Amino acid sequence: MSDGAATESGATLEQELERMLEIERFSPPESFRAQALLTDPAVYEEAARDPQAWWAKQAEELDWFERWDTVLDDSDPPFYKWFVGGKINASYNCLDRHVEAGRGDRVAYHWRGEEGEERDLTYAELHRDVQRFANALKDLGIGKGDVVGIYLPMIPEVVVAMLACARIGAPHNVVFGGFSAESVKERMEFSEAKALITVDGARRKGRTAPIKQQVDDHMHDLATLEHIVVVRHTGIDVPMREGRDVFYDEVCAAADADCPAEPLDAEHPLYILYTSGSTAKPKGILHTTGGYLTGVAATHRYVFDLKPESDVYWCAADVGWVTGHSYIVYGPLCNGATSVMWEGAPDYPHKGVWWEVAERYRATILYAAPTAIRTFIKWGADIPARHDLSSLRLLGSVGEPINPKAWLWYHQVIGGGRCPIVDTWWQTETGAIMITPLPGITETKPGSATTPFPGVFADVVSEHDGQPVENGQGLLVLTQPWPSMLRTLYKEEDRFVETYFARFGRETYLVGDAARRDKDGYFWVIGRIDDVVNVSGHRLSTAEVESAIVAHELVAEAAVIGQSDEDTGQAICAFVTLTGGVEGTDEVEGGIREVVAERIGKFARPKRIVWADDLPKTRSGKIMRRLLRDIAEGRALGDVTTLRDPDVMEQLQEKIVEAQAQEQ
Ligand code: WTA
Repeated sequence: MSDGAATESGATLEQELERMLEIERFSPPESFRAQALLTDPAVYEEAARDPQAWWAKQAEELDWFERWDTVLDDSDPPFYKWFVGGKINASYNCLDRHVEAGRGDRVAYHWRGEEGEERDLTYAELHRDVQRFANALKDLGIGKGDVVGIYLPMIPEVVVAMLACARIGAPHNVVFGGFSAESVKERMEFSEAKALITVDGARRKGRTAPIKQQVDDHMHDLATLEHIVVVRHTGIDVPMREGRDVFYDEVCAAADADCPAEPLDAEHPLYILYTSGSTAKPKGILHTTGGYLTGVAATHRYVFDLKPESDVYWCAADVGWVTGHSYIVYGPLCNGATSVMWEGAPDYPHKGVWWEVAERYRATILYAAPTAIRTFIKWGADIPARHDLSSLRLLGSVGEPINPKAWLWYHQVIGGGRCPIVDTWWQTETGAIMITPLPGITETKPGSATTPFPGVFADVVSEHDGQPVENGQGLLVLTQPWPSMLRTLYKEEDRFVETYFARFGRETYLVGDAARRDKDGYFWVIGRIDDVVNVSGHRLSTAEVESAIVAHELVAEAAVIGQSDEDTGQAICAFVTLTGGVEGTDEVEGGIREVVAERIGKFARPKRIVWADDLPKTRSGKIMRRLLRDIAEGRALGDVTTLRDPDVMEQLQEKIVEAQAQEQ
């Protein structure tokens, strides 16, 4: 079935989707409801009546070395503590308890490499590998509280490394493989990491990037970094520095086999994950153990209706983002799920590889980003149609708003019209899914993440007075603490309070997204209100990109905005002024893109560069990005009278029209 071809009813797919767009809502199919874990909306009332009791009930699903005395300590907002007095270990909950209950032979991951290599890892095997590597870390002098960086591709060792850290109480700091070595260095520096676990080389569409070499080129002498552990994956030659660098397989072979999991306080830091904020300096989101696990395990079970004995769950994110932390590693493993873990890119070796993977492992649940779905739409429905996707029973979406058309295509073409879709809204900061359908209960509306998960409380408030907005747009806030919430920004406590809890008081979490709520109380998330851009579900700060661009020797000034983009949701558009008299050529443009790739990563390269003689500034010299956004989106210009030089706008408007015309 290609996009132009007729469907069974005789209409084209396009016409079919148009027709469905008119159907406002989709009820859970009867066949799905009949087997769903949750079908009674009373769970929402139960959680609302006594949220602490509800979350305590979820926490009881985990294994605790010692039970907590207090569910929630809210005596010093926004510094909330959950399950105070409890002792727990994340690695124990992900592995030992399954092995001890006789489930060691269950596959934890069907791993599939880029070239089609396959490796199944059972819970018992993971348990074995994690213990050895945890001991190896100890042998290197890593202990409780030491930060360990992880910069690895999608290979089983990344999970082993994360759980080995968790086992001994060393918070991990994973950096997404798409970030440059320079970004890794910065994140190691900010977090004062004592060790970094990386790889010889990473594969991408048949090519190999020399990761260890790149790391060496940037790492130089970080005062705190004592060791670099290198996983051999591609087998390329790597430089090793005596006394600092060791090979993963060698340290594991030399380590003891048994490493009992360390009982840790519920509030012991589990990990730091850097994410983008309004300034160029990334924010180190800190998550702790007991509450985080409670949140990810409960949401993973109920949002994905997980049946660990029969489901094959596939989250197609990268472990380097929070989606991977919560829904490839901690949530699924806590729940004893069998997952697919895939190393490759969606168009390598061919554009049907996702569907080949889904078919091969008989995946029942697929969790993906709208940007991927939009790409598949562009490639055509005939590609997935060549594969048997009948095993799928539930689809998920995450990372950015999903437009109704993409939702419907996902539903029809991938889900065969029988799979509920869970559009899950959440953030690195929230740790776990916050606004989402429950697939056996919620009627869904394409484009809406529907309502908060039981025990989560959200509102849309006016930006002026913080009062709830009934039927209209406002700022999304979370009005009560939840177990998997961030605890602070690592080493930046003031910034934590300032960013999230200053605007509407210390008990209201400011999300940073605009949203509206419809007459049924459904939430529609619109997008960011701050200078954060969401490119293909990757979160970037405009300030971060600007500071990379101005590092180019010919650049005088730069202003970066997010521009709506059909494929990537938003795309980066940079307005650049060059130093005296220099012409903006293709070569300079290439150079700028190169600097951004080098400083941040390839995914942050601007899609469009507009050469500007000057940028719109207020009389005090502040760049007015709002006006740049207006012209980039082709909107009528707002008030320009406060500009130092109002003519600037006219020139820029001409330039952007020119630039767009050239691209067509
Ligand atoms: C956006 C990713 C609409 C939102 C898990 C949020 C979404 C930011 C959705 C967090 C969704 C995420 N609908 N928007 N279902 N999911 N977002 O920290 O703007 O990488 O604030 O976490 O992505 O991005 P982050």
